[in-house]
Amino acid sequence: MMNDFSFIAVSVENQIGWIELNRPKVLNAINRPMVSEIVSAMEAFDRDDEVRVIVLSGRGRAFAAGADINEMADAGTVDMELINQFAEWDKISLIKKPVIGAVHGFALGGGFELALSCDMLFAAEGTEFGFPEVNIGVMPGAGGTQRLTKLMGKTKALEWLWTGERMPAKEALHYGVINRIIAPELLMEETMKFARKLAAKPPLSLRLIKEAANKAVDYPLHEGMQFERKNFYLLFSSEDQKEGMKAFIEKRNPKFKGK
Ligand code: CAA
Repeated sequence: MMNDFSFIAVSVENQIGWIELNRPKVLNAINRPMVSEIVSAMEAFDRDDEVRVIVLSGRGRAFAAGADINEMADAGTVDMELINQFAEWDKISLIKKPVIGAVHGFALGGGFELALSCDMLFAAEGTEFGFPEVNIGVMPGAGGTQRLTKLMGKTKALEWLWTGERMPAKEALHYGVINRIIAPELLMEETMKFARKLAAKPPLSLRLIKEAANKAVDYPLHEGMQFERKNFYLLFSSEDQKEGMKAFIEKRNPKFKGK
């Protein structure tokens, strides 16, 4: 479909759309065009019926060592405001299909923020996470202070945000920042295995579950439950709901169509 990317590589197999960050010489430092490419690829996968799950990983030694420092070093406040680069990052959270991050090596700064914008994270043993922005006179700007705090709680998050030190994968796992730690040589295999498991589920259920779970992060319980209920009712106009329940009653495996 779309192989004219400069900073990422994309492919589709087994209903999984795979995006790989592809600037290995600079540890996949995320420049602005790379973010636009990630967003374009994700949006295309989101609309593509052949794709049910999106996987994001990085080529080379690391997932991503941060936003591209060279691109920002000379910028002023007004430049940053006018470029409005994070508007592009924000689009990642509008993707409806499951997005699974498979990270290894380093996920630092913007690289950690990109990882945190995935729905689930699988990490290779030895992966180091962190927000080193404080060491270069700034702070996270693509959701780091918000997403990490919502996951770990404020006291733990501040420790990492203030010191800029690297968080070992075990700590990330302990605090629910990542889903699991995998031997490096098995990272992609295990991630794809999990992605295939999701790809076999009814896609509309997956997307409405994602939407409702995301509301739980921001909404008070009552509003979240109202939202959940509407999505639950909505699924009763899908063919997959009829098929799923009929198959159960007929004691056979369902065939889901995503409709
Ligand atoms: N931007 C630009 N280039 C980067 C980069 C980044 N964030 N991270 C690494 N690179 C480049 C290095 O400059 C180096 O390039 P050269 O070979 O041309 O010198 C190449 O990638 C390899 O890196 P190192 O030689 O430094 O590799 P290492 O193994 O010795 O160290 C590292 C690895 C500890 C991750 C180190 O590269 C590092 O500290 N990187 C910067 C981390 C950082 O500060 N990230 C935050 C960026 S700011 C941000 O992300 C803001 C935001 O919220 C959006």
